[in-house]
Formats: sequence, structure tokens, C-alpha cells
Amino acid sequence: MDLKKRVMAEKAKLTIDGETYELPVLESTFGDKAIDISSLRQRTGCVTLDYGYMNTGSCASAITYLDGKQGTLNYRGYPIETLAAECSFVEVSYLLINGCLPTENELRNFKGMMNKYALMHEDMVHFFDRFPAGSPPMSILSSMVNTLSAFYPEMINNPLEQIDKMAARLLSKVRTIAAFSYKKSLGQPLTYPRPDYSYCANFLNMMFDLPVSPYEVNPVIVNALDKLLILHADHEQNCSTSTVRLVGSAHVNLYASISAGISALWGPLHGGANQAVMDMLERIHLEGGNYKKYIDKAKDPNDSFRLVGFGHRVYKNHDPRSRILKKLCDEVLQTLNLSNPLLDLAKEIEEVALRDDYFVERHLYPNVDFYSGIIYKSIGIPNDMFTVMFALGRLPGWIAHWKEMWDDENWRIGRPRQLYIGPKQRRFVAIGDRKVCDERFS
Ligand code: CMC
Repeated sequence: MDLKKRVMAEKAKLTIDGETYELPVLESTFGDKAIDISSLRQRTGCVTLDYGYMNTGSCASAITYLDGKQGTLNYRGYPIETLAAECSFVEVSYLLINGCLPTENELRNFKGMMNKYALMHEDMVHFFDRFPAGSPPMSILSSMVNTLSAFYPEMINNPLEQIDKMAARLLSKVRTIAAFSYKKSLGQPLTYPRPDYSYCANFLNMMFDLPVSPYEVNPVIVNALDKLLILHADHEQNCSTSTVRLVGSAHVNLYASISAGISALWGPLHGGANQAVMDMLERIHLEGGNYKKYIDKAKDPNDSFRLVGFGHRVYKNHDPRSRILKKLCDEVLQTLNLSNPLLDLAKEIEEVALRDDYFVERHLYPNVDFYSGIIYKSIGIPNDMFTVMFALGRLPGWIAHWKEMWDDENWRIGRPRQLYIGPKQRRFVAIGDRKVCDERFS
């Protein structure tokens, strides 16, 4: 990735201890500027301090761009609205990983590879029997994905030569693992993948087919799932993607890097939020629908409660994914002739919050997780599988970022610096003489 042509004539000036240093400024495709501080420590002896990397760009990337102020998102230059309306999840996965939309032939080959690798090694299937009942599906998913590196080690040495195979294998196997983990949690027999089904139809069939009651594929549900996965497919350098890059930066294989990303996604501040939204809406509904109490709790500086599904590190405007999902939610419920009081509740909360000064001043809008759970629930996916669904959707993004990093000549092992604030030097006290606590800080 040649960044020389991004360097602007303008320089940033930094004065420390009376000395002024000039730092290069780089410009993105959309004109955003980044100050290149890679020579800072060498030249000044200083590092930067940036908790949560709020202002730190960790790489240059050509995959996804989101404008948090405008509330827009695009993958490889295509607006998310167009991709969600026109493409399947498999096409979008191909786009993210390979940089361009596939031709018919390329798409056929990609799907062919995915069908070829959809089955899981039978020995891996037995692993499911050993997880205790009630195991969190995200823990099963991250363990099983890491285990792929033991079953398919041939991919580890020449990753970029094998990337198409690894990507197809991961996309199809993670789908199978996700469905199997659900079946196992219910104690039901496994349904194996079917090559005659599309990606999403195959997943739904593996989830819900039973020998006594065969699953009937419903195109409305397949279409909703396709859209949900597309909307989650990538989102710049978010927590899980940065984890995949950081772990991968130590030359860790793709499966292990993705397994780490799955663990990062698990947290309620990231991918776990969609489950937390449903739990919150269900609780409010059960308590009689008094959402105002929860809005007040969210605003109370002495209460740690947050209105889950609201706010975003980057979007300070509507999250475009949330707008698409709100519409999709209505469409799905209407077409399936379902009603869900949680949708009405969610809409009321959104309306009230968007008029409330607390949320307006802090630019807190509904994010991707606010409506996705209601759709998942309506198509039969239980709450504890929501984050697994997020992982399934985010997978092509993680693969694309891992591949981009391997391909980038600027890539270095990730190793942030710190500001050390511990004691300078302490007097060692032998174990028998250690008595008082204040020794700890002497
Ligand atoms: N409810 C109430 N107050 C909030 C919320 C919320 N959901 N989110 C942020 N705030 C307040 C926060 O208390 C702070 O107020 P003050 O300035 O008075 O201290 C202010 O808004 C800024 O918040 P922040 O924590 O500094 O913002 P952040 O960028 O570090 O956090 C966030 C972003 C997504 C973690 C946060 O908005 C949050 O916890 N939201 C709820 C969890 C959630 O929905 N997560 C899913 C994120 S989207 C999925 C994804 O892309 O991973």
C-alpha cells in the first residue's frame, strides 16, 4: 500500500519543550486528514496517549468508509443501501474480500468452493458433545473456529496463496458451526448442509429442520437474513476487527485471528448489544411498558445503566444500518403477519429519546443493534444466538482486513506504548517480614 501520494504539502507542527517538529499529514479519499506520528518517539522521545484509540488510525484501509457526521456507510465504494437492496450476502462477502463485485462465473466458483467446504470434519462434530449444557454459543463458536487451525493446518504457511480457499472454508464452516451449536444446545439431531440451498436458506435449514417436521424455506425470511448479514459485514476498525488485525499482526493464522475477533465481539458494548437490547425491551415490556423509567435511568449520572442500542463511537448521526433495519422490521412482521409489542415499544423509545436534550446533546441515535434483535426473534432466532449471527455477518469483514494487512508492506506487529504511572523503585521485603499494606507503595 503506497501512501506517498497521500502525503500533503501541509505539515502539522508540534512544539515540545520549546522545540518545534514538523509532522507529515496524509489525506484520505474523502479528504479526512491524518497526522503521521510514526517518527514521533524517535525524534522527540514522546509517545501519544489515546485511551480507546479515539483519535488513532491504526492502518490505511481501502475496504469500508463511514462518515459518522453524515451517517453514511459504504463498502468498497458502494453505499450500504444499494448493497442491501441489490446483493446477496455471498456477493457482498466476495466484494469485501476481493475488492470488486463478482461476475456470474466468479460468484458460481465462490459458491462452489463454499459448498465443497461446508461439511465439518466428523471428529470436530464430536467436540459439540463435550460442551456443558447451557454453554454460551459465542464460547463454542470461538473455540471451534480456533480448532479449525488444527484440522486444516495446510493453510497456515502460505496464507495469501490460499486465501480464497480459507475464506470460502471459513464462511461455510462458521455457518455450519453456528447452526450445529444451536442444535446441540437443544439436544436435537444435526442437519447437514445442502448444496442446493443458498447460503442463508442453508443456514436456516440447518437451524430449524427436524426429521419429524422438515423446514420449509421461506423467501421472506431468507431475504431478511441476507440483509441482516450484509448490514453487519464490515465496519472499519471496530473493536473485533482491530482485534483480528492485532492478533494477526503477530503472523497468527487466519482461524486463530478470527477466533480472537469472535471473543472481542462477545462483549455487550460491541456485538453482545443486540442480545442486551432484546433483554432490555423484554424486561420493560414485562414491567408494563414503563420505558420512561429506563430513559431516566440512562440519563442519571449516578446510574451505570445505558439505553442499549443507542450511541456509537463513530456515528454522531443516525446509523444508516439502523434506518434500513427499522424498515425491514416492519416489512418482515407485516409479510409474516406477525405482531410484536417490542417493535412498538422500541419505536416509542426511539421517538422519545430523539426529542430528549440528553440524547440530542450527546448525539445518541439508535445503532445497528436497536432493531436487529426484533427481526432475528421474528424469524425464529433465539436471543442467545444474536451475537453468533453478528459474528456470521462480520466474518467477511474480518477476513478482508486480515488479508489487507498481510498484503500491506507497511504492516508491523501491533505493539502500543504506554504512560507508566507505577512506582519508580521499591524496597524488597522478604516474605516473612511483609506486614503492612503501605509497604506496597513504599
Ligand atoms: N445511554 C445513555 N447514555 C449514553 C449512551 C447510552 N446508550 N451511550 C453514551 N452515553 C453517554 C455517556 O454516558 C456519556 O455521557 P457524559 O458525556 O455525560 O459522560 C456520553 O454519552 C458519551 O459516551 P461515551 O461512553 O464516551 O461514548 P463512546 O464512544 O465511548 O461509547 C458506546 C460508544 C457504543 C460504547 C456507547 O454509546 C454505549 O455504551 N452504548 C450502549 C451499548 C451499545 O448499544 N453498543 C452497541 C454499539 S454499535 C455496535 C457495534 O458497532 O459494535
